[in-house]
Amino acid sequence: MSKPKTSYVCRDCGHVEPKWLGRCPQCGQWNSLEERAPSSAAGRGRTTASGSAARRPEETAAAVKLSEVSTAAHPRLPSGFAELDRVLGGGITPGSSILVGGEPGIGKSTLMLHCAGALASRGVLYVSGEESPHQIRLRADRLGVAGEQIEMLASAELSTVLRALDTVNPAVCIVDSVQTLHDPEAGAVPGTVNQIRYCCYELTDWARSNNTALFFVAHVTKEGAIAGPKVLEHMVDTVLYFEQSETDVRILRAMKNRFGATDEIGVFSMRERGLTQISDPSSLFLVQRDGNLPAGVVAAPVYEGSRVLLVEIQALTVPAKGGVSRTFSDRIDSGRVSRVAAVLEKHAGIRFSDQDLYVNVAGGIRIGEVGVELPLAMALFSARTNRPLPEKTTVTGELSLAGEVRPVLHVRKRVRAAQEFGFSRCLGPAAARDDDGGSESWICVGTLADCIAQLW
Ligand code: TYD
Ligand code: MG
Repeated sequence: MSKPKTSYVCRDCGHVEPKWLGRCPQCGQWNSLEERAPSSAAGRGRTTASGSAARRPEETAAAVKLSEVSTAAHPRLPSGFAELDRVLGGGITPGSSILVGGEPGIGKSTLMLHCAGALASRGVLYVSGEESPHQIRLRADRLGVAGEQIEMLASAELSTVLRALDTVNPAVCIVDSVQTLHDPEAGAVPGTVNQIRYCCYELTDWARSNNTALFFVAHVTKEGAIAGPKVLEHMVDTVLYFEQSETDVRILRAMKNRFGATDEIGVFSMRERGLTQISDPSSLFLVQRDGNLPAGVVAAPVYEGSRVLLVEIQALTVPAKGGVSRTFSDRIDSGRVSRVAAVLEKHAGIRFSDQDLYVNVAGGIRIGEVGVELPLAMALFSARTNRPLPEKTTVTGELSLAGEVRPVLHVRKRVRAAQEFGFSRCLGPAAARDDDGGSESWICVGTLADCIAQLW
């Protein structure tokens, strides 16, 4: 029998090379290849990296007719938070695996402990490789979570976790955090990509065959590059990221969801006694102002997930140092900001190429919806020309490269939300008039120039 070969695995992306290289050819990271012991993949007769493994228990040995596959659905479990249930697509799907990522300290463990409390009567196993049972008990007391029915396991060693799962057979298992999972069989150090992947594969496999919902808590740094979360995204059914907006507001966003819509957001507030859900966040990101609006500020009804939020977009332009224009924007994609500025330069004759552009969304929420483009253009125009928008006016719409205002969805809901918060006019795409049923407060604008003429 030939001697098994050592291979080298990238810590960041999991790419495997037969030889050590200074730079990973797949993700380009320097010094990220780590030696993998030859026996590591053999562990339980499975490969760790691709999951091309032994058959899972619920898999069929032969093909069956699609029409003969059982449709009996298992009812979803309520997590205790309507906000979380909505993000998950209507509660926790039994047997599914859910990754909850976020920066350290954002509130992942707190959210999980709240859920454990709400689901306790159904059977919960809380696996903590990070905090001691004592620390978790203190947090539970602070949150008012009674611990009688929550099983705690203070070990993240795979075989111990699997054994505990067999004994408890819970409806929900929480693993806090994946970065601490390890298995001596899978090779050297805890926290490496292969360890995490292997352990998660084994656990999701167990969970699926036993109809247990599995939460994986995962730490992400600002760059999102820490080994772990990224390489697990394709292995789990649902990926949720906890985002910190400034202040105590926390936003939970679905990035991937096999059982519901992505881009859905849940809004929470971190308080003295844990997380509180905010079921009507529509005006949370709006700045209340007495008196005149400053230049560079535009209120916009944007559609995030399945709700309208009124947000305040703020822009600032200053002469570029060294004459090279730069864009600083982390709440709206900076590529989008540059593109909107280019459209303004071309179709409204406003020069941005010698300006630095700063863009922010009040309250720190990230906006990915296309309807933010026209209000963003108006904020940049207003900032550059130092002319504030008229009062009680909101703007919504997508902007084409040709300077036309393109239609957006759910105009009626946007107008209604804007009216609720005292905005009497909403400027937006012409094609939306029918959808809106000809509301008086809706002002159609066909082009960028049209919109500027209406406002000033
Ligand atoms: P935690 O859930 O431990 O974060 P993560 O698991 O994502 O690392 O939350 C820690 C932070 O939340 C910490 O800064 C304290 C704060 N916090 C509160 O403000 N109120 C509370 O009731 C709790 C439990 C935590
Ligand atoms: Mg934690």
